[in-house]
Amino acid sequence: MKQTIFEHPLIQRDITQLRNKNTNSEDFRKLAKRISIMAGVEVLSNLMIESEEVYTPLAAFTGVKIAKPFPYFVSVMRAGSIMVEALIELYPDATIGNIGLARDHITLQPNEYYLNLSDNLSDSVVILCDPMLATAGSAIYSIDILKRKHSSNISFFSLVASQYGVNQLAKAHPDVNIYTCAVDKDLDEHGYILPGLGDAGDRLFNT
Ligand code: PRP
Ligand code: URA
Repeated sequence: MKQTIFEHPLIQRDITQLRNKNTNSEDFRKLAKRISIMAGVEVLSNLMIESEEVYTPLAAFTGVKIAKPFPYFVSVMRAGSIMVEALIELYPDATIGNIGLARDHITLQPNEYYLNLSDNLSDSVVILCDPMLATAGSAIYSIDILKRKHSSNISFFSLVASQYGVNQLAKAHPDVNIYTCAVDKDLDEHGYILPGLGDAGDRLFNT
């Protein structure tokens, strides 16, 4: 299992503005997408390649194309959708799955309200996208589903995580790679990441 925290100055600059309570929804979306593109390049860096011959106006050239297993992007709705939007800028041919989860405000347990995934994910590089990893309940629940669909190559991609969430996820699914841009120290009594950025879904969808 690999844990990666993106320290790039441009990513950290944008994460700071994502945290800023004065950032409006329009800018929040732009920032979340731009961060996901910058970090997404690295999240997708282990894709396989094979050679491809093309012809420049002057000569033949042997380059590369992406080989199997191909990427499969999964959004944990609602908030994960902006990250998938970013990843398809990088790999437009990807197949996309959706897992609709809403965290119960009292128990903090995820409630599933929508599921649309391929039945067999054994031949896919799955990138599971959710900007927030707080208690890790939603991530662990989603990965349980993916594994029931035979997925064995899973990376979890978030923007802000809590140390508790990273520990819980690593314990529950030690084979899953974790990518994030920040690991914050605390969770508050309502399960929100501290300092965090608030409710990612509400800020993205202006609700
Ligand atoms: C948020 C977030 C994660 C989850 C993280 O979603 O996008 O899915 O909470 O918390 P956890 O690690 O404690 O499970 P929420 O359920 O609020 O839904 P939303 O995306 O529709 O706002
Ligand atoms: N969900 C969010 O959107 N933010 C948090 O801090 C925790 C869960």
